[in-house]
Amino acid sequence: MTKEITELLPGLHYVGVNDRTTHRFEALWSLPYGVSYNSYLLTDEKVALIDGMEEGFAGTYFERLDEVLGGRPVDYLIVNHMEPDHSGVIGQLRQRYPGLQIVGNAKTLEMLRGFYGITDNCLTVKDGDTLSLGSCTLRFYLTPMVHWPETMMTYWEELKVLFSGDAFGSFGALNGGIVDEQLELAPFWDEMRRYYACIVSKFGRPVQQALKKLAGVEIELLCPTHGPVWREHIADVVSLYDRMSRHEGEPGVVVAYGSMYGHTARMAEEIVRELAARGVKPIVVHNLSVSDPSMVLRDVHKYRALVVGSPTYNGELFPEVAALLDRLASRGVAPRIFAGFGGMTWAGATPRRWKEFCERSAWELCTPAVEFRQGYNRSYRELCASLAENVVEKLRG
Ligand code: FEO
Repeated sequence: MTKEITELLPGLHYVGVNDRTTHRFEALWSLPYGVSYNSYLLTDEKVALIDGMEEGFAGTYFERLDEVLGGRPVDYLIVNHMEPDHSGVIGQLRQRYPGLQIVGNAKTLEMLRGFYGITDNCLTVKDGDTLSLGSCTLRFYLTPMVHWPETMMTYWEELKVLFSGDAFGSFGALNGGIVDEQLELAPFWDEMRRYYACIVSKFGRPVQQALKKLAGVEIELLCPTHGPVWREHIADVVSLYDRMSRHEGEPGVVVAYGSMYGHTARMAEEIVRELAARGVKPIVVHNLSVSDPSMVLRDVHKYRALVVGSPTYNGELFPEVAALLDRLASRGVAPRIFAGFGGMTWAGATPRRWKEFCERSAWELCTPAVEFRQGYNRSYRELCASLAENVVEKLRG
C-alpha cells in the first residue's frame, strides 16, 4: 500500500481542504486555480490541531479528522490566526471535542469573544511560551499584523516545523501533492506573489519584523495556512517574502490603461513599442477594463515602473484607473517609477491626478505627462517616445 502523503512526518498529518468553488477570496480576489485552507493535526500524548477551517468546508474537514483520529479527541486547537477562513469551525470543534482548549494570545482571545462569544476553555500564551504535547514541544512566536494583530506562528521544536499562518502562503488549490517536491510549482510562485500583493502587502514592515524574529529559527518544514507545504524550497520562499515585504521591484514595466473608444489604448501600444525599442523587458500590459485587478496588483508589486493611461471621464480619471491608484495607495506599495498619459475631449484631468498620486505615495513621477486631445493620431508619437525615454532613464538610474 502506498504511504499516505497526508502524513507529513510521523505524527503530523495534513488535514487541509481544497476550495475550487469560491469565486472570490475575501469576496474580492479571484481564484482561477482555487485555494487551499491548510490545517495540521499533531498526535502525541496530547492531540493538537494547528489552524482550523473555513466553515463551509466543515463536512469534509471533520471526515478527515475522524479518519486520522480514529475516535481520539482533540485536546488543543492552536489558533495562529483568527480570520474566519481558519477559525470558522471553532464552534463546531468545541461541540465535537468538549474538552478542547483553545490556545492563542491575548488578542486572539479578545477576537474569539467578539467573533464567536467564546470565553471559556482558553489558554493564553505570550511570545516565546511553550506547550508540551508529550514528546513534542510547541513554541509560540507572536507576529502581529502578518496579517491581523493577533497573528502568531507555532514552532515544533524537536522536528523544526514552523506553522506560519498566512505568511508564506499562496493562492492555488493543491493538486494531489501537498509538499513542494510533490507539486508542479510554476503556478504557485505567481500565486504567492498575487496572494502577497492582495492580502499581505500593506503589512510589509510587520513581515520584516517577523522575518527578523525568526532569523535564527531553523526550519525543515514550513507549513502555511494556504498553498504548498515547503521543504525543498524554504530558502527560496523566505527570500521571496523578504524581497516582497521590502517592496523591492524587479526590472520591468507595467503599462496599465483604461480606454473607452480605443484612443488611449492606441497611445498605450505606441508607448509599449517605444519601451521595447529601448530594450525594456519584461513589459506587462493591462487593459484595466478587462484585466483581473488582483493580477494587476501582483504585477505592479513585482516591477519597478508603472505607466498608467486614462481618458478624462466626468472631469476625473476613468473609474477603473482611479480604482487601481486607490488600491495601490491603500497598500502603501514602496516608491515606483511612474509615468502617466491620457486623453481628453474638452478639459483634461489626468496630469493633475498623476501628480497628486505620486505626491501622496512618494512615487517618482516622470514629467511631462502626455495627453492627447480628442483623438490619438501619429502626431503624438514623439511625445510617446519621450515618455518612454524618461521611464528608461529612471530605470537605468
Ligand atoms: Fe487566510 Fe488572513 O487568512
